[in-house]
Amino acid sequence: MSVWAVLAAAGSGERLGLDRPKSFAPLGGRPLLAEPLERLEASSWIDAIVVAAPPGWEEPSILLAEEVGAGKVVSCVTGGATRSESVRAAVAEVAPDASVILVHDAARPLLDDAVVERVLKPLAEGFHGAVPGLPLADTVKRARAGEVVETLERADLFAVQTPQAFLADWLRTALGGDVAGATDCAALVEEAGGRVAVVPGDRRLVKVTEPADLELVEALLGREGGGNPV
Ligand code: C5P
Repeated sequence: MSVWAVLAAAGSGERLGLDRPKSFAPLGGRPLLAEPLERLEASSWIDAIVVAAPPGWEEPSILLAEEVGAGKVVSCVTGGATRSESVRAAVAEVAPDASVILVHDAARPLLDDAVVERVLKPLAEGFHGAVPGLPLADTVKRARAGEVVETLERADLFAVQTPQAFLADWLRTALGGDVAGATDCAALVEEAGGRVAVVPGDRRLVKVTEPADLELVEALLGREGGGNPV
């Protein structure tokens, strides 16, 4: 089984308010992108990596991959206008004989190999995709024009993260259609009729969106470095 990782790193990260894309925001004294690159490189599950870089940041992304010794990076493509378009551009560079594609957001730097293992397992059990999910602490309601329409059954709901794993053919087919509006790849595979498993997520896979998220990830990273369990 050959597993390729696609790292979606092409977001602008406007909400961070920096002069550079989110993937190059400082984290632990180096660009954020270094962290997920290094972790995918170190994963025994991953054979090759394709990076979707922010337009104009392809060269710095390649240099960074070299700097952290990420020799599994075989290609760095220019990202698209949306996450799905960036993933589509990167998937086009995946070898035709790859059997599994793992899609990960660079904005979730603290990737643990145990999560990679968890999302790969269902693919050997009849599922076409698998996502890590966290149970919700809050009650979720559907509302329209300021009025509650429905209270959803909390036990059925999950906050879904990346990495997400897919049988390569299913992801390719799913990305072949209209990807506008999809906030994750699993939604596209579900729409194409695929069965997607949900496995336990990881609270350290915080998505960096606001400056406070960057501080949180920095603190979690510091604790990892100090050897204290988070
Ligand atoms: O913008 P958001 O935080 O939702 O993006 C999630 C992930 O998708 C990030 O890692 C970001 O770099 C990536 N992305 C991308 N191309 C875009 C927009 C987002 O690769 N056009």
